[in-house]
Amino acid sequence: MIFEQILNGGDRNFGYLIGDEESRIGAAVDPSYSPQKYLDRAGDLGIELKYVICTHSHHDHVNGNDYLIENASAEVVMYKDAEYFFDVTVEDGQKFMLGSLELQIIHTPGHCEDGICILIGRKLITGDTLFVGKVGGTDLNEEARKEYDSLQHLLSFDDDIEVYPGHDYGAKPQSTIGYERQNNPFLTQPDFESFVHLKANWTAYKAENGIS
Ligand SMILES: [Fe+2]
Repeated sequence: MIFEQILNGGDRNFGYLIGDEESRIGAAVDPSYSPQKYLDRAGDLGIELKYVICTHSHHDHVNGNDYLIENASAEVVMYKDAEYFFDVTVEDGQKFMLGSLELQIIHTPGHCEDGICILIGRKLITGDTLFVGKVGGTDLNEEARKEYDSLQHLLSFDDDIEVYPGHDYGAKPQSTIGYERQNNPFLTQPDFESFVHLKANWTAYKAENGIS
C-alpha cells in the first residue's frame, strides 16, 4: 500500500495520498489547497489518481476537488448526504475498494453531519473528528453529542490503530488510538457532560496546561 501524509497549507490542513500497488489506482483524500502536489506525487509513483475522497464537506477540505476533476478526471467520493458535489457516495460500514485495497467507511457526524473516517489496514484517517490531542469543533448541544458518540466508536478500535488527522493541530502529525485514549483530554473525560464542559472551557484549559 502507498500511504502518504501531505501538508496542504491552509490552516495546517493534512491530506493523504493512498495507492494500491497492484492495480496502480490511487485516491487523494482532502487534497484541498494543494491538489497539484497529489498529481505530482501520483505521477512520481506511477499511480492513477482515480478518486478524490473527502472526509467532510467543509470548504477547507473540498476546495481542491475541482482542480482534480479537471486535471485528473477524478471522481469525487463523499458520504451519501454530503452538502457538496460528488460522483460516488459511501455509507457507514461500507467497504470502498481502491483496486485491491479495502477502505472501510465509518460515518462520524458531529463536527460535520457528513463526516467520515476511513480505515485502511491499521491506518485511520480521522478528518476533523479527531486530531492529535484535540477534537473537531462543534456546538455544545446536538453536534457535541453526535461527535461524542462518533469518538466512542473510534475508541472501540485497537490501541495500535494509527490516527491520521485532517489538520496538524497536535504535538505531532499523527498518533495512535492508544495514545489518544491516554492523552487526549477530550477522550479521558468520564462522560458526555464532562466532555461538553471541557469544550466550553477549552480556551482556559489550554492556557492552564500550556497547550497551543
Ligand atoms: Fe472541518
